[in-house]
Amino acid sequence: MLVLVTGGAGFIGSHTCVELLNNGYDVIVVDNLSNSKRDVIDKIEKITSKKVKFYEIDLCDKEKLRDVFKKDRIDAVIHFAGYKAVGESVKEPLKYYRNNLDSTLTLLEVMKEFSCHNLVFSSSATVYGVPRKLPIKEDFPLKTTNPYGTTKLMIEEILKDVSKADLEMSIIVLRYFNPIGAHESGLLGEDPNGIPNNLMPYILKVAFNELPVLNIFGNDYETKDGTGVRDYIHVVDLAKGHIKALEKITTKKGIDYYNLGTGNGYSVLDIVNTFEKVNNVKINKRFVARRDGDIASCYADPTKAFKELGFKAEFGIEKMCYDAYNYVVKNTSK
Ligand code: UFG
Repeated sequence: MLVLVTGGAGFIGSHTCVELLNNGYDVIVVDNLSNSKRDVIDKIEKITSKKVKFYEIDLCDKEKLRDVFKKDRIDAVIHFAGYKAVGESVKEPLKYYRNNLDSTLTLLEVMKEFSCHNLVFSSSATVYGVPRKLPIKEDFPLKTTNPYGTTKLMIEEILKDVSKADLEMSIIVLRYFNPIGAHESGLLGEDPNGIPNNLMPYILKVAFNELPVLNIFGNDYETKDGTGVRDYIHVVDLAKGHIKALEKITTKKGIDYYNLGTGNGYSVLDIVNTFEKVNNVKINKRFVARRDGDIASCYADPTKAFKELGFKAEFGIEKMCYDAYNYVVKNTSK
């Protein structure tokens, strides 16, 4: 089976390519490298000893995308490509709406033209907004709090309409919780540009003295230690969830939605303390005011993905913290 992975050089995309190749799928990557590097493709090939066809193109470029579909008969698409920085999306909403929607619409048009009916879409737990209760189930109300999240929700809506109009379509929407960690080879990991927004990349910068101190946003939440609670999932577990989705997609038409999380909530302090322990480093930290738009707690009910996809995350936060650090160690000492 030949799978086109959009955004396949990115953090989650690259790990998913590895799992696809290890499971006997053939892979084509389309990526404009706007937030990733070309050598990621070489690393995917090194880990798997398999070849990846790579096209450096922008998904919004319909002609170039058509050329990709013309060359090979693509059986399924996993669509990761998109801008993903929450803060930037608030400052530059049009950039987010233009890019994330335009690229998806172009992809869907080309898929239709070439009769490619199978799609896995990379969505986010952000579509649940501020959940009324926990854990979060797939049928909870959807509401977003920033333009990035709104692009994800709008694409979910577009996909719902597409699946209604074209009964051949088979679509799975995966709503990710908080992916961290890295491939255990140390070859693939998260490489954000500039000052990171997310917790783990920020901790790593502090661990390697590239930033002086971790600001912990709020210690007065209604959580066990006052800091924010999230459902962190190892990126390799998350990648494996895509294999399960592909197995399902070929057996069923229509659209379905799955949370990919562990079901466990950990606080910021849990993550910092575990990181310090497993890597034997100290993280300089201080408590500061809450970050705008943050919620106290967010974790998945992973039951539906377990029952219907046979997906269960295996790795705990120790391994997530260890692998995340290992990636930077391996790539700093080179
Ligand atoms: N945090 C800090 N200090 C930091 C960064 C984060 O204390 O420097 C805290 C946050 O307040 C939060 C937790 O660490 O309590 C996790 O924050 P992240 O920024 O790592 O992740 P979020 O849960 O805010 O956001 C993530 C993804 C978004 C996605 C969202 C909901 O980054 O893309 O989950 O699914 F929209």
